[in-house]
Amino acid sequence: MRSAASRWAAAAARRRTGSDEIDTEAPEPAIVADLRTAGCVFAEEEARLLTGAAHTPAELAAMVDRRIGGLPLEQVLGWARFCGLRIAVEPGVFVPRARTELLVGEAAALTRRGAVVLDLCCGSGAVGAALAAAGKRVELHAVDVDPVAVRCARRNLAAAGGRALEGDLYEPLPATLRGRVDVLVANAPYVPTSAIGLMPREARDYEPRAALDGGADGLDVQRRIVAAAPAWLAPDGHLLIETSSGGAAQSAEAFVRAGLRPRVARSEDLDATVVIGARVA
Ligand SMILES: C[S@@+](CC[C@H](N)C(=O)[O-])C[C@H]1O[C@@H](n2cnc3c(N)ncnc32)[C@H](O)[C@@H]1O
Repeated sequence: MRSAASRWAAAAARRRTGSDEIDTEAPEPAIVADLRTAGCVFAEEEARLLTGAAHTPAELAAMVDRRIGGLPLEQVLGWARFCGLRIAVEPGVFVPRARTELLVGEAAALTRRGAVVLDLCCGSGAVGAALAAAGKRVELHAVDVDPVAVRCARRNLAAAGGRALEGDLYEPLPATLRGRVDVLVANAPYVPTSAIGLMPREARDYEPRAALDGGADGLDVQRRIVAAAPAWLAPDGHLLIETSSGGAAQSAEAFVRAGLRPRVARSEDLDATVVIGARVA
């Protein structure tokens, strides 16, 4: 049996155009209503984006069904808006969050032309892509442990000539990169295991656990990144890690233990926190 969404999509398309084409200008009110009933707060905007993305009524119906079923909008559309860019996001890949724009902004301020940039735990590659798009030609390397994320990152970094590698943190990197990284950025998983259950369903059900779970205090992956960072950083290089406001003090302590002098950047607007460190002179 066809879903309610597929019935209205086909009917709406015929009503408007007498054919199987979709009117992308004005989303069908029934789509908005169905999305709203499913709990989508920005139902009109979502309906407009879905309607604009679908090529046929059947495709639109399938997309609305997936969204109503709980899939994040970005994974349904196949892209996310991040730092003004369209970042390809496949199902099962972490959706870049607006708060991570603070990490990009802080990193961009420290990135000179020709810099070597390393994005660990890159996911879709959004952070590296945004840094490359900031205008300075950079040598960009990215790593993620998840093969689906790496495939996505390769698509998003292709225009910048960036390289995405699959593996555990620094493990897949060539030894020739040691001591050469000018800007090392990481938005690693930092949600404490006990808080995963409190996250929105979209994240819990459709983003990989490995993208979210930072261990007992949320800092397991961060601590490994920080401890090994000095071996990869250039003498005047910087490490920048997104963290939670509650975890910032402990993240900063890990920087100090690794011989890096930390400072904390905070944006209340974005609800974002980034710890930034350079070698102690
Ligand atoms: C919070 S997501 C962030 C993704 C991306 N940096 C962003 O901001 O959109 C964390 C990412 O870290 C990756 N990850 C987790 N543990 C890892 C590890 N040990 N080595 C490499 N990547 C890892 C996950 O697969 C996931 O893509």
